[in-house]
Amino acid sequence: MIRKASIQSFTEKINTSDSLSSILQKWFVINKRNLPWRHTNDAYKIWLSEIILQQTRVNQGLPYYLKFEENFPTIYDFAQAPEEKILRLWQGLGYYSRGRNMLKCAQQVVNEFDGQFPQDYKQIIKLKGIGDYTASAILSFAYNLPYAVVDGNVYRLLSRYYGIDTPINSTEGQKLFKAIAEEVLDTQNPGNHNQAIMEFGALHCTPKQPKCETCPLAESCEALRSNRQASLPVKSKAKPKKKRYFNYLLAVSDSGFTYVQQRTGKGIWQNLYELPLIEQEKPLDVDELYRCLEDIQTISIESQNAINKSFSVKHVLSHQEIFADFWIVAHEAIDFSRNSNIFEVRFEDLEQEYAVAVLTSKFLRHLEQK
Ligand code: ADE
Repeated sequence: MIRKASIQSFTEKINTSDSLSSILQKWFVINKRNLPWRHTNDAYKIWLSEIILQQTRVNQGLPYYLKFEENFPTIYDFAQAPEEKILRLWQGLGYYSRGRNMLKCAQQVVNEFDGQFPQDYKQIIKLKGIGDYTASAILSFAYNLPYAVVDGNVYRLLSRYYGIDTPINSTEGQKLFKAIAEEVLDTQNPGNHNQAIMEFGALHCTPKQPKCETCPLAESCEALRSNRQASLPVKSKAKPKKKRYFNYLLAVSDSGFTYVQQRTGKGIWQNLYELPLIEQEKPLDVDELYRCLEDIQTISIESQNAINKSFSVKHVLSHQEIFADFWIVAHEAIDFSRNSNIFEVRFEDLEQEYAVAVLTSKFLRHLEQK
């Protein structure tokens, strides 16, 4: 429980002069980026942009937004799209479950709310893939309702401005910063306020080298006063990530066919396509991989020369680190007939015709550049 008095002890100083929000909104008028989702109050477009921007920065997210907007001008178009098409457009953003949830969410909005995102917090938060941040962003940007957004930018700005070292990834921190964000919200202009506070965090109160010399909040910023910009916000240490070792096999035939498989189960990259994969507890050298393939009766040529390592890449996810090695294997040496899950496709068509998991996609990029 966070008592009102404790929040006010942080925020009361700003009520004496120009409020934090009015300073941020004045800054925003002059400094805001011209972005397409800022010229609309269509909740569908705002939802689209916010889900994409949870995955990537504005510069990288913009082309994705434009692509989705062009392919699906309305939520009805989106709700009718085949999942494969959405995942193909989503390719490169990671966390495909977000792309999948978008389809389910659009279908819920069309089927249950006549194509209009609900204006009620309790209803909108129940939609697939929508949490407190996205709900508050849609309600405030599209409908100008008084809900405060708290994203990484907001955590950073508030923790520095008020000098708060409660970890932002603790339950206590999340409650505290949400309460402060609500306290400083301009309830008359919540949409503009929320855009301003996030933009200020993204462009001015940046993680590294914040622009304190030209900061309109410098006079009352607690981190600047106590020289703690670099140590705020505080994040408590996450537990070590699980390490996984993937070996992908590329075997292209003379006629240009290669093997692929579809990921099954509940794990990462569910239902996406990738090269045949051998996962092990540790990295393998060529002999170890050869023995592994022998064990599963997949290799038929008695020579390790049939296998060559082509590429290695590390891929970091929220709870795991994947070390992937890509091996080129002579097509005639390999026999996947025991594995019903693996089938052949034209190598050239792989990325156009299948929603490919990120590591396979990285490898194909690598091959193109060679
Ligand atoms: N990051 C998240 N939402 C954003 C928005 N609406 N504009 C700019 N950056 C953002």
